[in-house]
Amino acid sequence: MSTTTETYDMLLSLVKTRHSVRKFKPDPIPEDTIEKILEVARWAMSGANSQPWEFIVVTDPKTKKELRDAYSEYNTDLIFWMEQQREYSLRHPSYQVKNDPHESLRFNKAKANWHQAPAVIVVLGDGRRQWGTVMGAHTFGRDQSHLTDGLANASFLLHLAIASLGLTSEWVSIHIEEPHKRILDVPDLLKLYLIIPIGYPDVSSRGEGVRRPLKDMVHRERYDMSKYMSNEDVIKYLYSLREATVPVHSASRAVVADEKK
Ligand SMILES: Cc1cc2nc3c(=O)[nH]c(=O)nc-3n(C[C@H](O)[C@H](O)[C@H](O)COP(=O)(O)O)c2cc1C
Repeated sequence: MSTTTETYDMLLSLVKTRHSVRKFKPDPIPEDTIEKILEVARWAMSGANSQPWEFIVVTDPKTKKELRDAYSEYNTDLIFWMEQQREYSLRHPSYQVKNDPHESLRFNKAKANWHQAPAVIVVLGDGRRQWGTVMGAHTFGRDQSHLTDGLANASFLLHLAIASLGLTSEWVSIHIEEPHKRILDVPDLLKLYLIIPIGYPDVSSRGEGVRRPLKDMVHRERYDMSKYMSNEDVIKYLYSLREATVPVHSASRAVVADEKK
């Protein structure tokens, strides 16, 4: 067993080097790798230890392509048009494309290549299993917060386990669940939370990502109002965030400047 310092250093290095990749090589990954990744997620925290998660491992190229096509058709379309409401440089990096919107949308839909990854893990949640937690966490008419909290915990452990095995992944948010559920025969009652493609990156490796400095996010004893952002400060923050993260995002998809006209 390593010392506490070694364990901490290993953990810090893992969380700093894990990063999202949005372009994958089709190269297969060893068979027992998926099992190892899932085993880590099994140990996630959840409200009252209710463990609402389930995972579908998809390796069949046809199913992966169907999932990707459904994602482009429903999710990308919705998100793309919503992003058009914002001023160009405030849009999510994926949707900062200057061409005619219809042409840009076609480009965006075609660009997502996560179906090329050798495997994707679909994270599901059964809200009934999460009944084990306090009733206040799923008050009728409000979010089932402990369900999504638990799923997020399991999902992040999947990402960390993937990175620990020298592989890369992407967090593919599912905003419209139904088309994916139909493809995978998922019962209506379940939540289809996330798709995580896993594979070797088809982009150059990168160093540390972008994060706010620790001193800006930590308060001691009481909330320090000097760190509180006014509404106007938040808008300035979002502009500076985009400036820092757009190049990182483009690199993770291997998008070159010429393609973003
Ligand atoms: C709740 C959440 C939603 C996200 N949605 C997406 C997504 O739909 N597509 C994607 O490519 N990345 C998505 N990400 C990944 C973030 O963009 C990424 O983690 C962040 O920019 C930091 O970069 P890094 O993962 O390389 O450190 C999401 C991450 C979280 C936690």
